[in-house]
Amino acid sequence: MSLLLKARQVVGWVARRGLTTNEVKSYPSPQARTKPLEGLTTQQVIDREATYGAHNYKPLPVAICRAEGVYMWDVEGKRYYDFLSAYSAVNQGHCHPRILQALHNQASTLTLTSRAFYNNVLGEFEEYITSLLGYDKVLPMNTGVEGGETACKLSRKWGYQVKGIPKDQAKIIFVQNNFWGRTLAAVSSSSDPEAYGEYGPYLPGFSLIPYDDLPALEAAVSDPTVAAFMVEPIQGEAGVVVPADGYLKGIRELCSRHNVLWIADEVQTGLARTGRRLAVDHENVKPDILILGKALSGGVYPVSAVLASDEVMMCIKPGQHGSTYGGNPLGCKVGLAALQVMEEEKLAENAEKMGILLRSELSKLPKDVVSVVRGRGLLNAIVINKKFDAWQVCLRLRDNGLLAKPTHGDIIRFAPPLCITKEQIEECSDIIKRTILSF
Ligand SMILES: Cc1ncc(COP(=O)(O)O)c(C=O)c1O
Repeated sequence: MSLLLKARQVVGWVARRGLTTNEVKSYPSPQARTKPLEGLTTQQVIDREATYGAHNYKPLPVAICRAEGVYMWDVEGKRYYDFLSAYSAVNQGHCHPRILQALHNQASTLTLTSRAFYNNVLGEFEEYITSLLGYDKVLPMNTGVEGGETACKLSRKWGYQVKGIPKDQAKIIFVQNNFWGRTLAAVSSSSDPEAYGEYGPYLPGFSLIPYDDLPALEAAVSDPTVAAFMVEPIQGEAGVVVPADGYLKGIRELCSRHNVLWIADEVQTGLARTGRRLAVDHENVKPDILILGKALSGGVYPVSAVLASDEVMMCIKPGQHGSTYGGNPLGCKVGLAALQVMEEEKLAENAEKMGILLRSELSKLPKDVVSVVRGRGLLNAIVINKKFDAWQVCLRLRDNGLLAKPTHGDIIRFAPPLCITKEQIEECSDIIKRTILSF
């Protein structure tokens, strides 16, 4: 391209966005943050949402308008590293071209038939995911919480039809600090008053035991009316709580011995996030029911899935469960591409290596500032000394070009897309260390 043509393009680009030449030089650095690239400023985005939207979230004050790979850009053109990955939905990286291609191709061919008719894509997705993960059957839904609901319904059916639990007495055991979404069933099993408060009356038949406590599990599952035990292999929303080695094996052993179904909620931990295809692979165990969501579509479209054996899955008969959008051709093609990207780009291996590097860098922070660095693969968290406010730390991380979200006041989760490189992890570790030490 000639120099003249290039200069003309830059001038046109500047004029279109209303930036000064100095701002262009520094684009997309913080100095470029006085004028929006197009449309609204960050503050206008925030104000509009506050006026017209329900206040059921408290987002970090940053307004994103574009993302690619590990990066996101705000409406003023500033670039950030994404260290949340939409709560682990964007494992494959933002706007992955192969997943988008699948979306575009299918979107212009066939999007939704409902399950009233067969479509030519659902079976392709079902065959791929069941073969990949070693289950007889899959039941596709949309959101993670619908996956959890499906697993609970399936296990109650199995409890009555196969285990022989008397009518309406089936129990499901959960653990304290679990998180599996926002429906009435999910909040009925929650131990977090913020999640369940004033939503009663709650669903009966759910009980709670401590996490990472095999004796408590043994006591619970010896009750013959227990149909299932539902647990995350690593607790994500609780602040990336990693159980002791042997916990998953212990669950498998106890559930098998007492004829109780083990439901693994891998909506957040699954699909390469923890450095294995599934977090349960760290202990080479197989749950009876597996729930996947989030990264099953690479952040493009809501797709969730419940996988189980024929013995469990065939307990639900036509008309007894479903979803208008569940298993739609668009979601299936997106899900298929998301899984293929995870496999072909060896995202689990990268997550494992990059996670080790990230934790070793963050462990260099003084212990009186960061007391704990924990995680597996690229699902990580730090616990900061209570005298610092995690929200303030995240605001300063944002100013320094990295987006992360605090949880429980003193915990910050670090979960970048799994395509992140060694150089990027090193740069991000520097940002995090510099930011924390600036307090
Ligand atoms: C472990 C786990 N299960 C289920 C869910 C619910 O997923 P969704 O928000 O898609 O309903 C979440 C969401 O954060 C989760 O972390």
